[in-house]
Amino acid sequence: MTSAIFLDNVSISYGETPITHDISLDIAEGESFALVGESGSGKTTVLRAIAGLAPEWTGTIRLLGEKRGHGVDRASVKACQMVFQDPYGSLHPRKTVDTVLSEPLAIHGIGNRGERVEEMLRAVGLDRRFRFRFPHQMSGGQRQRVAIARALMLEPKVLLLDEPTSALDVSVQAEILNLLKRLKREQKLTYLLVTHNLPVVSFLCDRLAVMRHGRVVEVARVVQLRSGDFSDPYARELYAASGGESVSV
Ligand SMILES: Nc1ncnc2c1ncn2[C@@H]1O[C@H](COP(=O)(O)OP(=O)(O)O)[C@@H](O)[C@H]1O
Ligand SMILES: [Mg+2]
Repeated sequence: MTSAIFLDNVSISYGETPITHDISLDIAEGESFALVGESGSGKTTVLRAIAGLAPEWTGTIRLLGEKRGHGVDRASVKACQMVFQDPYGSLHPRKTVDTVLSEPLAIHGIGNRGERVEEMLRAVGLDRRFRFRFPHQMSGGQRQRVAIARALMLEPKVLLLDEPTSALDVSVQAEILNLLKRLKREQKLTYLLVTHNLPVVSFLCDRLAVMRHGRVVEVARVVQLRSGDFSDPYARELYAASGGESVSV
């Protein structure tokens, strides 16, 4: 079976500064895979390279079997989309939801835009009254629903999610996680999800990789999260710090 996301010895740098070292990952189609690890370990950088937003890297990145180049290109944009951590910053303040959701369709020459926008709003649990709202007229959770909708407009197979709930109130986090779980099932998506939150990993993911100082130090199945069965000392530490048990969301 083709991998959805395949990285072989990917080393990413910003200018002269190396950020990640020899990252190798093989994520199957339909799998949900988490990247965890301390702040600054390079998790966001890995997602950015996969999305074509970090131009300086060596190694191989394949998306759905296709080798990707260093920039943003049409085929990879259609295959793979990223949802950013901060729904406040990621939506343009002067664009309506309608504009934000129609844009990718217009760029890719896809018609029936109004209908598709309304259909997607429904899919992310927003009624049609939201279609002509601006970001400041919505709550954080509603904005993140719009950001998720935008990512799904081109019907990608792969979604890169960078701490998609960490900027939200605790009460709203569960709603967004439930939404992501439902969308994954309905649209047969593959997720690569960055999170600090181990309960989120157990709720949504099949496997996880632990990153530290720009390297993957452990890849484990989520069932190991339940037993704390890690070989890497840092991964064990992280598990202990999480309270050593999975919490249902
Ligand atoms: N645009 C950038 N230019 C230079 N350095 C960056 C840039 N973005 C991130 N970094 C650095 O790369 C390292 C990894 O950052 P990041 O991938 O954001 O980590 P994480 O998401 O795990 O917290 C950090 O040391 C950070 O300071
Ligand atoms: Mg980050």
